[in-house]
Amino acid sequence: MSITSIIAGTGSYLPDNIMTNADLEKIVDTTDEWITQRSGIKQRHIAADDQTTGDMAIKAARKAMEAASLNPDDIDGVIVATTTPDRTFPAVAVKVQGDLGIPPGLAFDVQAVCSGFVYALSVADNFIKAGQAKRILVIGAEKMSSIVDWTDRTTCVLFADGAGAVIVEAKENNDGLEGQGIHSTHLYANGKQRDMLQTSGGVSTTGDKGVIEMQGRDVFKYAVSYMADVVKETLEHNNITADQIDWLVPHQANIRIISGTADKLGMSMDKVVVTVDRHGNTSAASIPLALDEAVRDGRIKRGQLLLIEAMGGGLTWGSALVRY
Ligand code: UT7
Repeated sequence: MSITSIIAGTGSYLPDNIMTNADLEKIVDTTDEWITQRSGIKQRHIAADDQTTGDMAIKAARKAMEAASLNPDDIDGVIVATTTPDRTFPAVAVKVQGDLGIPPGLAFDVQAVCSGFVYALSVADNFIKAGQAKRILVIGAEKMSSIVDWTDRTTCVLFADGAGAVIVEAKENNDGLEGQGIHSTHLYANGKQRDMLQTSGGVSTTGDKGVIEMQGRDVFKYAVSYMADVVKETLEHNNITADQIDWLVPHQANIRIISGTADKLGMSMDKVVVTVDRHGNTSAASIPLALDEAVRDGRIKRGQLLLIEAMGGGLTWGSALVRY
């Protein structure tokens, strides 16, 4: 008998306030044409001033529990991937646990910026395979608008807010790759590249939260090559070819990075879940938001094979192969 971690349910939340490229034209020296051509983004959701990452995480988590027909009592762990926590401490995960009435169990945040959800999924998968938990709520939630420099046109047009959640549940699987579950995860970081995408400050340096600073062109270059490497490694590790993948569910930073990865895989864009045009870059929230959208509109179906991949500050990158 072998235990895998299946995705029992998904949920997501986007703030009501939509900011279009035309709105941004009024704030910084930019154009709808530039933003669309360079990034693929047309609009993004921005949280209200009094709305926190934790508030959005809770809304997404409730929907994931509903989708899985589970109650708070059924959950024994909460992992939140975020770069924009409500407070320096405690973790957003304990707010989610406390406010949803989830009983005491493991609860902590994971900080791997845009790769955060893939890292959190991998951590949850390992807890479950080790027998230390049965059902873990894994959330990616971000209020990136709170660390954007709204005078910097090179970054403020890209980042946005939202939350997505999945419930990862232990299930017996004796069918190998044909069975449901997370079949592999691969995680990487290259700390020598940490200055390429960072905040200008932090708790133990400047004492303030800082704002996003990005060497966009360099990050773009590494994103394309790291994604190609990790996707190749994932296929080889699982002894499959790209045509066996039903859906690519990538981090949503830039449509050119997404289509570049699809091209390398020989996958048509019809098999790629794209939300970047409407969501912008919501960092750790982007993959669970995309996943939930495609599950709810019926594109992603039970039994299909999903390739999930992300890359972000650190630099960090990673992938997961999941039979939904
Ligand atoms: O999620 C975490 C990982 N992050 C990413 O994956 C982001 C990776 N990087 C990117 O997606 C792209 O590099 C960007 C979308 C950020 C930028 O696209 P680019 O094609 O690499 O543009 P660039 O940075 O080379 O800038 C081209 C020009 C520059 O002007 P000059 O130097 O050629 O005169 C910029 O100053 O575009 C200018 N520019 C803008 N123009 C209008 C930069 N931002 C803007 C703007 N509007 N918002």
